[in-house]
Amino acid sequence: MPIFLGIDIGTSGTKTLAMREDGEILASATEEYPLSSPKPGWSEQEPVDWWTASVNTVRRVMKAAKLKPADIGGIGLSGQMHGSVFLDKTGGVIRPALLWNDQRTAAECAEIETRAGGRSKLIQMVANPALTGFTAPKILWLRNKEKKNFDKTVQVLLPKDYVRYRLTGDFATEVSDASGTLLLDVVNRRWSKTLLQKLDLDAKLFPQVYESEDITGVLSDIAAKEMGLKPGTPVVGGGGDQAASAIGNGIVGRGVVSATMGTSGVVFAHSDDVQVDPEGRLHTFCHAVRGKWHMMGCVLSAGGSLQWFRNQLCVAEIAAAKKQKVDPYELITAEAATAPAGSEGLFFLPYLTGERTPHADPNARASWIGLSLRHGKNHMARSVIEGATYAMRDTLEIIKSMKIPVQEIRVSGGGARSPFWRQLQADIYGQPVVTINASEGPAYGVALLAASGTGAYKNVVEACHATISVVTKTSNKAAATKTYHAAYPVYQQLYRSLKTDFASIQNLIQ
Ligand code: XUL
Repeated sequence: MPIFLGIDIGTSGTKTLAMREDGEILASATEEYPLSSPKPGWSEQEPVDWWTASVNTVRRVMKAAKLKPADIGGIGLSGQMHGSVFLDKTGGVIRPALLWNDQRTAAECAEIETRAGGRSKLIQMVANPALTGFTAPKILWLRNKEKKNFDKTVQVLLPKDYVRYRLTGDFATEVSDASGTLLLDVVNRRWSKTLLQKLDLDAKLFPQVYESEDITGVLSDIAAKEMGLKPGTPVVGGGGDQAASAIGNGIVGRGVVSATMGTSGVVFAHSDDVQVDPEGRLHTFCHAVRGKWHMMGCVLSAGGSLQWFRNQLCVAEIAAAKKQKVDPYELITAEAATAPAGSEGLFFLPYLTGERTPHADPNARASWIGLSLRHGKNHMARSVIEGATYAMRDTLEIIKSMKIPVQEIRVSGGGARSPFWRQLQADIYGQPVVTINASEGPAYGVALLAASGTGAYKNVVEACHATISVVTKTSNKAAATKTYHAAYPVYQQLYRSLKTDFASIQNLIQ
């Protein structure tokens, strides 16, 4: 049986796994690397670190699973989206890459909207509004602020596509990741000539766009030697980390939606046709399924809110957990479970790092609202978990308002590991949530794309159906659902009431 490698170039590290054709994971390895923030709001990494981590993790996985180079049938690549790698004419990296969470490009976002003829014209061209994290504003920033570097640039690549270049020598990308550059005509799945012209960017700066399961090239002799693999091994397009993770969760058909609660929270829906939120609150990107699309909302501090609560306010729980040899989150959620649904009128807005979906507001702040003498730490813990989950519901509601059915919600990440949080998600979403057998995320998704792209399956949908299945179902409870149904509009209103105050707070500290 052939083996497939999935490599995910994440923000904190690179994860590689080896998967047998039937979906069984044989080994995985992760290597971390630093992130630098040379100025407030800047976020950069050295692309060469991604390459080194890819080489090292592939070598570790091959060794751990006792694999021979000829066992590998194909490689899939996934990675943090929106980053920008600037290459010169020798293929050398010109400066550190700007990442998805870099916030330096507010002026360039405004420039893009103006050059496009306004926000709604831009959304018509590329299906999305300009957001600071996206790639296009980063390229304009280089032209505006580091002209010398811009003049040297002959190719702009996304993080995983830089690793592809090192693997195969080819400049190539695929539709799901390319969608997050803001330069892809998402409807027609090719670069937007119109927007490139309006931004005065040469189309030659960008690689060829493939579908995600297409083979974009094969392993070069030099890369094969460095990795301990066989020259000529096919490399498929792969996907941006969110689309790849969705493949890994089996989100490949209408009606199945994922809610992934990590530091950030992402709600992701498959769509057979292009659906654009006219207000631009959701991202509309090409899916890694051939000829399909997806809608996605990103909550910046979902699990991150509970992590903050744990670190700042749960010193005692952390110490007790150490003694009892359990995860502190177990003690914190047990405490939260002693407060009733709705936390007796206490709300937590989870905007610790501003918010992307649905508010696209860097000034938004986290807040507890509704505290009274009656409230204890158990209410505070519960309200944090409820606030993060209401934020995820915001995206679900937009998806539903676009007439995309939400028949099954697959939950994953930290918010799915805890039975308490799974129940709370079912109660707040007002419908059952399920978990699946796979939990390896994007690296697993692109290993499946490598398997289908090299012919082990007819297509990635078939690959998902053969390997992924539902293992648990948590039904919502009627009484809690009723409580949350009444509380959710209050949660929504709180941001609207505080929006201008958040901006005033930001002005104070600038
Ligand atoms: C997606 C996004 C993040 C990055 C890093 O739009 O910004 O998920 O891909 O993981």
